[in-house]
Amino acid sequence: MSDGRVILGIETSCDETAVAVVAADGPHAGLLALSSEIASQNDLHAEFRGVVPEIASRAHAERVLPVFRRALTAAGVGLSDIAGVAIGHRPGLIGSLLVGVSAGKALAWSLGVPLVGVDHVQAHLYAGLMWRRGEPPVPSAELFPALGLVASGGHTSIYRCESPTRLTRLGGTIDDAVGEAYDKVGAILGLPFPGGPAVDAMARQGNDRAFAFPVSRLGRASLDFSFSGLKTAVRYAVEGVPGSEAAAPVRSAKFDADICASFQRAASRAVVMKLSSALDGEPDGFRDYRSLLIGGGVSANSRLRADLAELATVRGLAIRIPAMALCVDNAAMIAGLGYRVLADRQWASDALTLTAAASSA
Ligand code: KG4
Ligand code: ZN
Repeated sequence: MSDGRVILGIETSCDETAVAVVAADGPHAGLLALSSEIASQNDLHAEFRGVVPEIASRAHAERVLPVFRRALTAAGVGLSDIAGVAIGHRPGLIGSLLVGVSAGKALAWSLGVPLVGVDHVQAHLYAGLMWRRGEPPVPSAELFPALGLVASGGHTSIYRCESPTRLTRLGGTIDDAVGEAYDKVGAILGLPFPGGPAVDAMARQGNDRAFAFPVSRLGRASLDFSFSGLKTAVRYAVEGVPGSEAAAPVRSAKFDADICASFQRAASRAVVMKLSSALDGEPDGFRDYRSLLIGGGVSANSRLRADLAELATVRGLAIRIPAMALCVDNAAMIAGLGYRVLADRQWASDALTLTAAASSA
């Protein structure tokens, strides 16, 4: 049971319908998830090997109320405990976002509580700050300025973070997001959708030096990423180079595992290389970072987690990577960041004119 007020978070930006309840009172206000319910739509999109927007928004419309009820029950709270409603309102699929925005507005209006629109990508970074049982809460002041990385199916971006709510984007992918590259490699190998977790599991049996896949640099000073060349290199290694006389390689479990491990090494090196450039002061001369703040679905990746932990150790930085359940899309991160924004502005509500937006501000 809750012993205080809570923030309700709603997330419907892509293909996860998620509702969560986060404490709004006490020492863990904005940091402790009392519940985090997620209805995944993976099964609905698997046959298309990608998210179909119209299917996603229809499924959100069907699921948002049942997931909302589950989140309240799991947290042991009632409607009268809700002190504010946080909605992930950008960026994402517009039809999907509209379902969450409409549900959140209706709830906030009917309860007479403030509502706050939250940026989904910023929320991924906030997920790393949330409290984990058994760990002492880390005071934010010790972590900022932080170097942020969001690595997901839709985003691969680097941020300078002065605080959980003051972020400057330093660079990002110019083509595929890293999670998209994982999913495409999974598709090339015929692994289940989405490919990321399957590639991660398979890579554990492989040799990460078996294939020398390219790591795009795009210039020393640039903090941008490109993953399309890596994805094409994997396709050619698996299917053979188009127009070449050479026969396509013979596939085996060992071959596929080597592909996964080598791809994963290249993807992780690309990320570590750009974060290292940022720590060296690119592009704006800042070298005062105190932590790495990591978020997004690909931060669940075992290789990336290990490589980033090593980078933090070598550079003498703190590192915050979300607990596994908070790496992928969830509403706890929305409610948590929503609490921070509401508290910072003395609980002033966004107007009911708040809208969904396909891209970040
Ligand atoms: O953050 P998220 O749930 O959705 C977006 O905002 O895009 O990220 C989903 C992405 C997918 O591309 C999925 O394959 C990837 O995260 N992912 C992983 C792992 N778990 C999820 N990628 C690599 N290794 C994993 N263990
Ligand atoms: Zn996401």
